[in-house]
Amino acid sequence: MREFNYKDDRFRCEAVLAEELAGRFGTPLYVYSRNSIVDHCRHIENAFGDIDHLSCYAVKANANKEILRLIAQEGIGAGVGSAGELQMALRAGFPPDKITYSGVGKRDDEIEFALHENILSLNVESEEELGVISAIAKRLGVRARILLRVNFDLDAGTHPYTTTGKKSNKFGVESSKAVVILQKALTLPGIDVMGIHNHIGSQITNADAFVAAAEQSRALVQKLRSAGIPIHHLNFGGGFGVQYHDFITHLSLQPDEGASESGITTVALLKAILPVLRETKCKILIEPGRSIVAHAGVLLTRVLYTKENSEKRFVIVDAGMNDLIRPSLYHSFHQIVPLRIQNVRHEKVDVVGPLCESGDFIALDRSLPRVGRGDYLAVLCSGAYGYALSSNYNARPRPAEILVDGAHVRLIRERESVDKL
Ligand code: LLP
Repeated sequence: MREFNYKDDRFRCEAVLAEELAGRFGTPLYVYSRNSIVDHCRHIENAFGDIDHLSCYAVKANANKEILRLIAQEGIGAGVGSAGELQMALRAGFPPDKITYSGVGKRDDEIEFALHENILSLNVESEEELGVISAIAKRLGVRARILLRVNFDLDAGTHPYTTTGKKSNKFGVESSKAVVILQKALTLPGIDVMGIHNHIGSQITNADAFVAAAEQSRALVQKLRSAGIPIHHLNFGGGFGVQYHDFITHLSLQPDEGASESGITTVALLKAILPVLRETKCKILIEPGRSIVAHAGVLLTRVLYTKENSEKRFVIVDAGMNDLIRPSLYHSFHQIVPLRIQNVRHEKVDVVGPLCESGDFIALDRSLPRVGRGDYLAVLCSGAYGYALSSNYNARPRPAEILVDGAHVRLIRERESVDKL
């Protein structure tokens, strides 16, 4: 990964020394690489070859408005999950006819807003919601283009909180009901049926689960067409897993333990499913979030204290679960590296935040080069669901965000101040 690397044992984002950024803007600090975001968009686009498609960036992964603008400029669409995200996507320049809206609990005013903006599609999650969309479209005198979100009862093998395609999850309708629901949809005023949608989970690293979902989608498209329902769009959702372990290697760093997703790439996952999806002859939509921004961001943090007891050594840093909740919420792994390699002696530590909870940690039992007060660390692959899930817990202002482009540095969100809380 060339956008983040070491030169002369100093960690850099593109051509800029990370220590310089930490010194200038303070920590905790989110730092993004512009070129990484652009590259990820282009790799995904290229993987489709000549297949008729639209990639819609899942705004929830990172909704910084400069990052949205950058992705919109790449010509891809947006996948939104609320009227707020829709508004942000429109403001960032995503054309309405490239925006698709999913969400199990859309309010009436949110549906009205989406219809008013004439977006590409509303992804319908229940029969009741379909009726509400029809009534609102009729009242407004417009037509709602819909995709039916289908739940295939597939286990994507991810953390339970990020699995969405099982029957026990709240998402979509059972695939056995799709024919009946869409036949009814054809009779409802104000509804144009475009096709089906599914999204089986997030951080999926097993291509088999994806292929199973693609095969089920293909079979369902055939079944729906045989029942006289004209299906021309297939939205396959997002969920493409990315590598978190050993993202950066260096002779003086020990390999991460427990790597499960080594070598995984979005392009490889896409290559596994696209031959199946293309057979439907539908326009293929996907909604990648993490796979566009995760690798493009790091969270810089500073060591405040170290201490040890008879059992453990703790490294207490200035970033906490309010800044990056993924380790606490999903026990997610993020590689942690020092900004300056100066000590090759490794030790096992818990890297913990300053908040008043034992669940406030960034890493447990992690082998790291020995660090001390004042040293800086980078928490890697934090561009997706990092800032997006941050909070003001413990009256902690959210971090600033920086976008680096070559040697050029831009503050794209100011650090919050306590006055604004
Ligand atoms: N489409 C829909 C309908 C979704 O619900 C999601 C994510 C995506 C697309 C994008 O999925 P992605 O390509 O980013 O995996 N906070 C969790 C992830 C939650 C994902 C929610 N839905 C995490 O930090 O791992």
